[in-house]
Amino acid sequence: MNETDWKPDLYLKFNKERIQPSIDLVSRIDFENPLKIIDIGCGPGNSTQIIRKRWVNSKIIGIDSSPAMIEKASSDFPDQEWKVVDAGVDEINGEFDIVFSNAVIQWIPDHYKLLTKLKSILTSDGLLAIQLPLFFEMPLGKSIAKVAKRCLWSSEIDKVTELFIINDYSFYYDSLVELFDTVEMWVTDYIHVFDSHLSIIEMMRSTGLKPYLEKLQSEGSRKQFEDLVLKEIVNDYPLQRDGKVLLPFKRLFFIAKRDKHT
Ligand SMILES: C[S@@+](CC[C@H](N)C(=O)[O-])C[C@H]1O[C@@H](n2cnc3c(N)ncnc32)[C@H](O)[C@@H]1O
Repeated sequence: MNETDWKPDLYLKFNKERIQPSIDLVSRIDFENPLKIIDIGCGPGNSTQIIRKRWVNSKIIGIDSSPAMIEKASSDFPDQEWKVVDAGVDEINGEFDIVFSNAVIQWIPDHYKLLTKLKSILTSDGLLAIQLPLFFEMPLGKSIAKVAKRCLWSSEIDKVTELFIINDYSFYYDSLVELFDTVEMWVTDYIHVFDSHLSIIEMMRSTGLKPYLEKLQSEGSRKQFEDLVLKEIVNDYPLQRDGKVLLPFKRLFFIAKRDKHT
C-alpha cells in the first residue's frame, strides 16, 4: 500500500456514520429488478453490501481506484466482483441499469464530464444515483479550508481545493437536466454524535483531511495542521451537556433517470 492510498481499516472505523447515506439513497431508488448495477468508488465494499441486500439477484460490480480498498473488498466479500478502475480516467466497461456512487465524486475532477460518462454506461431506461458531501458548506469544511489558506502552508497545499471538487446543487441540477429526463435532488443533515473533537479529526483523517495531510511534507507540519483544525472545531461545535459533540453533516443526493427514447 502506498502512502497516499486509502486506509480501509481507518475508513471503516466510522462505518456507522458513513453507511447511512447509502441506505437512504438505495431506499429512494425506484427500480424493481435491475439486471446489472455498478458501485463506483465502492471502497471496502460497504456501500455495495447495501445494494446487494436490496437486489439479491442482480449482477453487481464494485470498482474503485484504490488497490487497498479493492483488496479489502475482495478479502471480505470474495464471492463478489471487484475491480481497480479509475472512474475519472479509465474506460468503464459494460451497461448498467443502476450506476450508484456514494461519497466518491468529490475526488474526481470535472463533474460535467463525469456525469456524461456515467450516463453513457446506463441502459436506455437506467438511472444514476449519487451522494456527495457538501463539505465546504459546513463549519468543519470551512475551518479546514481556512487553516489551509494560512501562509504557513500555502506553498505545500495551495492546489488541494482543485483536488477536492464539490459544486453546489444548482450546478448538478443544470448539468443533469441537460443529460437526463427526470431529476430528483435532496439534502440531508446527519447529526453525528462524537465523544470528543479529537474523534472528529480521527474520522476526517481518512476523508476530508486526507488530501491536505498527504501534501504536507513532514510529520511535524501534519500534526500542527491537525492541531489548528482542532482549535477551530472546538469553537465551531460546542460540547453538549453530556460532554458529547454534535456534528451536523450535510450531504447532497440526486437520482437522474433516462427514458427509453433517449
Ligand atoms: C469516501 S470513500 C466511499 C466508499 C464507499 N462508497 C462508501 O459509501 O463508504 C471514497 C472512495 O472513492 C474512491 N475513489 C476516489 N477517486 C476515485 C476514482 N477516480 N475512481 C474510482 N474510485 C475513486 C476512493 O478510493 C475511496 O474508496
